Amino acid sequence: MNILEAIKERRSVRSFDGKALSEAVRNELLAFAAGVYNPFGGHFSIRLKSFNLKNGYKPNTYGIIKDANDFFLIGMADEEATALATGFCFEQVVLKAWQLGLGTCWIAATFKGTDFDNGESWPDGETLKIICPVGQAAKKSLMERITRFSLGSRNRKPFSDLFFTDSFKQPLSPNSSFGEALEMLRLAPSSTNSQPWRVLTDNDTVHFYYLPKSRLSVLDTGIGICHFYETEKYYGHTGAFYTLSTPPAVHDKWKYLVSYRRRNTNI
Ligand SMILES: Cc1cc2nc3c(=O)[nH]c(=O)nc-3n(C[C@H](O)[C@H](O)[C@H](O)COP(=O)(O)O)c2cc1C
Repeated sequence: MNILEAIKERRSVRSFDGKALSEAVRNELLAFAAGVYNPFGGHFSIRLKSFNLKNGYKPNTYGIIKDANDFFLIGMADEEATALATGFCFEQVVLKAWQLGLGTCWIAATFKGTDFDNGESWPDGETLKIICPVGQAAKKSLMERITRFSLGSRNRKPFSDLFFTDSFKQPLSPNSSFGEALEMLRLAPSSTNSQPWRVLTDNDTVHFYYLPKSRLSVLDTGIGICHFYETEKYYGHTGAFYTLSTPPAVHDKWKYLVSYRRRNTNI
């Protein structure tokens, strides 16, 4: 399965088959997580913890996650660069897991921290902020179906509401040179499916903005930028990220985050 297929097919999985990951798969995921591309720096740690379900212990996710034995734990510092980097980097792991036939679900709210943090110690400034079950998907539980329905998880905002050109005056055409990469961004997961990402393009450059909806909006935007960048990479367009001290255009609701310039451009 190529990365675009993984982006299109992925969904959050909340019901699992109860089996532990094999040693080989654990090692593959851990090696992949250690080598993800990170252009944003920040301070975060990704761990993979096994809970021995067979012994009857289930960490508390308030009924949201069913029968997951293995969970990623993510410790993060409270910084904008960290939020952006964590979203960008861990989404690479989520997509890799999907390519390996494994389901995941980013979880920032519906978990009891002490159940997961027990015995962990994090580098200075980092605390456990995200967990993510990983394993073989089982048939969706009733709770999973209700959760997905109430979050509107299958829905995404239209392309024309998110992506713009000409100082936000014009919606971007999906047929523009960044059309496919931005379409892949549009499909990304976000907390409460909030889709806070907004984009302004200018020839070979994309400026990423976000709508500050919650404490997770920057992290969510990092996830979307991961989908965008994976698509650029797939087509051999990889460019560079940089931050402008003065945003290219000001918008009353959206905050500027970072810019990207394509290198091998045919625009
Ligand atoms: C940063 C982040 C935090 C999330 N936190 C939770 C959570 O606490 N509980 C939950 O059930 N789902 C959580 N989700 C999953 C979202 O609800 C889900 O990604 C969204 O509804 C879109 O559905 P999809 O992932 O199936 O495409 C989170 C997703 C992200 C990206």
